[in-house]
Amino acid sequence: MERIISGINGLDNLVNGGFPKGHSVLLCGAPGTGKTIFGLQFLYTGAKNHNENGLYVSIEENPNKLKAYAKEFGWKDIEKLENEKKLEFLRVAPNQRKFDVAEAVKQKVQDINAKRMVIDSLSAIYLAFEDITQFIYSFVNLIEELGVTSIFITDSPPGSNELTKDGVSEFVCDGVIHLQLHDVSKAVNRTISIKKMRGTSIIPGMNSLKFTESGLEVEEYKAFY
Ligand SMILES: Nc1ncnc2c1ncn2[C@@H]1O[C@H](COP(=O)(O)OP(=O)(O)OP(=O)(O)O)[C@@H](O)[C@H]1O
Ligand SMILES: [Mg+2]
Repeated sequence: MERIISGINGLDNLVNGGFPKGHSVLLCGAPGTGKTIFGLQFLYTGAKNHNENGLYVSIEENPNKLKAYAKEFGWKDIEKLENEKKLEFLRVAPNQRKFDVAEAVKQKVQDINAKRMVIDSLSAIYLAFEDITQFIYSFVNLIEELGVTSIFITDSPPGSNELTKDGVSEFVCDGVIHLQLHDVSKAVNRTISIKKMRGTSIIPGMNSLKFTESGLEVEEYKAFY
């Protein structure tokens, strides 16, 4: 099976060498767990190091803010990659969501020949739909048909063990990665767990997720107090 290198150091070891190509991966976590940075790093690494073009579909945040975050990690050539059509940001406005988001995404993936995509977030898109379950099934299936390896970001309810509010997307997507924050006195432990990854063996359980100067990194879990 062909693998897609995640771009997050230490993560590919947990999924036997990378995400299976063309698969849909749900990235869920409560607010502030690092989902957006993870998505940016996945696309930046793909465009920069693996010649895999990427599309970032943003509902929640203005792409200019996303680019500013990227620069904090030294990913300074993000605009150059954009000019070369290796990286593209698609802002989906609230009134656009309901009617043609799937079509707009499909068009862009084909335009730039995207191999990687991030949807930030699935939970923000489905708010506009009455039948959320139906929307999730049809949207994820449509994206899977494009053959692009995708990360679907979704909110987890804070302070609960549930992965998603919808209770559906974790079943629909091929893979599920859960990010968590654990408050410890005045510090915080950030963790990452692979809940499932169809078609490949995984190392389950919690690992540490760290912010470094150059982005996120996975390390063996060591709780600190
Ligand atoms: N350069 C950095 N160095 C250290 N920590 C950072 C840095 N950039 C972001 N963070 C931490 O990451 C958190 C936000 O990351 P991110 O925006 O990826 O989270 P998110 O899961 O997408 O949140 P939301 O659900 O609100 O969209 C911030 O609250 C901050 O604590
Ligand atoms: Mg975010």
